[in-house]
Amino acid sequence: MSSYSTRVVLAVLALFACLSQLVMGAAVPAQAGEKRDVFVPPVLYPHAGTVWTKGQKHNVTWDTSNAPEQITNRQGFILLRKGDIATPLVLASGFDILLGRIEVTVPWVLPDDDYSLVLFGDSGNFSPQFTINGPSPF
Ligand SMILES: *[C@@H]1O[C@H](CO)[C@@H](O)[C@H](O)[C@H]1NC(C)=O
Repeated sequence: MSSYSTRVVLAVLALFACLSQLVMGAAVPAQAGEKRDVFVPPVLYPHAGTVWTKGQKHNVTWDTSNAPEQITNRQGFILLRKGDIATPLVLASGFDILLGRIEVTVPWVLPDDDYSLVLFGDSGNFSPQFTINGPSPF
């Protein structure tokens, strides 16, 4: 039975490693005289050893104590990550990054122990829209 369990195991990897990797890809050159602080708050929960199960609600929490005074974008969002890959699965969005916590519902994903979360706060911008093509399954 346990081999067919619906348990979802989420483990947060080394936060600075994954966040800095993603933030660097979206870095925005600051204009002269413009103060742009990138706020990359460390996630406190979930942490190594945390076990989540599909459908449960949990408060993701992060440390806001080092938040800079000027944050250009306080809107946060949280992506699910598996291994080294950030999935397109959004667990929460549109919350104030200075809240320090947001409740999420554990999605139904294949059980595994290499999930982590990516918390985006004030992290620059994104690329222009682009197209991904491929065969449709239906
Ligand atoms: C998350 O935190 C809020 C505020 O403390 C609380 O009301 C809520 O019950 C918490 N949710 C869970 C799933 O613990």
